[in-house]
Amino acid sequence: MVTVAVLGQQVAIGPTKLLINNEWVESVSSRRFATINPTTGEVICEVAEADAPDVDQAVQAARKAFSSGEWPKMSATRRGELLYKLADLIEQHIDELARLETLDNGKPLQDSLGDLQLVIACYRYYAGWADKVQGKTIPINGPYFCYTRHEPVGVVGQIIPWNFPLLMQAWKLAPALATGNTVVMKTAEQAPLSALRVGELIIEAGFPPGVVNILSGYGPTAGAAIARHMDIDKVAFTGSTEVGHLIMEASAKSNLKRVTLELGGKSPNIVFADADLHAAIAGAHNAIFFNQGQCCCAGSRLFVEEKCYDDFVARTVERAKRRIVGDPFDTTTEQGPQVDKDQFDRVLDYIESGRRGGAEMLCGGNQVGERGFFIAPTVFADVRDDMKIAQEEIFGPVMSIIKFKDIDEVIQRANATMYGLAAAVWTKDITKALAIANNVRAGTVWVNCYDVFDAAAPFGGFKQSGMGRELGEYGLQQYTEIKTVTIKL
Ligand code: NAI
Ligand code: MG
Repeated sequence: MVTVAVLGQQVAIGPTKLLINNEWVESVSSRRFATINPTTGEVICEVAEADAPDVDQAVQAARKAFSSGEWPKMSATRRGELLYKLADLIEQHIDELARLETLDNGKPLQDSLGDLQLVIACYRYYAGWADKVQGKTIPINGPYFCYTRHEPVGVVGQIIPWNFPLLMQAWKLAPALATGNTVVMKTAEQAPLSALRVGELIIEAGFPPGVVNILSGYGPTAGAAIARHMDIDKVAFTGSTEVGHLIMEASAKSNLKRVTLELGGKSPNIVFADADLHAAIAGAHNAIFFNQGQCCCAGSRLFVEEKCYDDFVARTVERAKRRIVGDPFDTTTEQGPQVDKDQFDRVLDYIESGRRGGAEMLCGGNQVGERGFFIAPTVFADVRDDMKIAQEEIFGPVMSIIKFKDIDEVIQRANATMYGLAAAVWTKDITKALAIANNVRAGTVWVNCYDVFDAAAPFGGFKQSGMGRELGEYGLQQYTEIKTVTIKL
């Protein structure tokens, strides 16, 4: 295995070709593209670049593994065993995978290790489900015996983003495989390496050829080829709302493949004056700054009650200034670089827009260091609902604090967005907590906590934050078709 030296570290690079039918191949065009280390801005290596012809080959392999029955008709217990085996192999290589994730994505090593715990748990959770997916017997009228079967959808296209490469791979692969689907996955061009290394472990675990195919490549080429493919039965996508619209349109214009979408957000994080402010300040800090702010569910609209506003803002700024930004391989680092130059520029543009729009910038706003894509934790106070930084997904370490007076008003303002992915409330009053939980239109509401994820708890969006749910039992439903069988007695 090739290793590269980076910031005095040796990091092992896994495969850099396409995984099709359990073989590592170059792309049909032979083109390759560079993946960049966001900590330095330097090229790590080049990977094979998939386009439509490679998608065709991967779909053929996936179709064969599906239609031959090898995968969907394999005993469900055996499919579960293979997923357990994959989880074990990932666990055995956890340090190596975490280092590769940090190299390619820039997230702090501690965070990569945290992601990997969730990755392993996700594969194990769905491994356990594999032989527990069952239909119903239904007492219909007349002399009939009626039952349902939950059958796999078929060949599934999965398009994942770069903010949690290994975790998004797990959220997508595990339920699809547990239910007997075969997969063509396109990873994000910004961070393709870790998913390819998992591809090697998938082969080692013993998954049959064609069950999992992994392609590196760009969205408008390889991604679009998946979305419009006539022989893909479902597409599962995580990324921007803008591309989510394109995916649905491509489905409508091709074969009406099933679509599930996990898209952007502008999640309200609501702090009442009666909250444990110490916990709320720490929670609000992590809600926006975790993962360099690159989280679909980031608490990016921080509503703080007027009565505690000044105190909260002062302490929040003090915490943001202490955030440790730097070498992601250093275990004390809290924040690494943004994933690439595009995201870095985008975030700085939003900061400029906040400044020009009249929000009060209390810290940050600048690049950190001279190389790589580091941005100082930035806090804006006195943000108004109509400002761009209060409406659009920034996807960076930029906190927007908004003042509110009472609960009815904050519910109405929290809902005044096209998004509905997540929300949180901080209060000691159960009545207020439940009023927020029941009335904010979002797929997840956290009470006195934030970013609590578990493979068993469903996640997904209301409104333009997406459709369908991932994780939990609900996540399985998106990977099966219901067949009704009626027998005359
Ligand atoms: P994106 O939506 O363009 O990329 C996500 C995935 O979709 C990548 O694999 C990409 O290659 C693919 N893709 C892009 N265009 C496609 C197309 N036409 N057809 C099929 N697949 C396509 O997001 P991008 O450009 O990386 O980031 C832009 C913004 O999107 C971010 O600043 C953030 O606001 C949001 N975003 C949200 C994510 C989430 O977790 N919900 C993840 C990544 C980005
Ligand atoms: Mg893009």
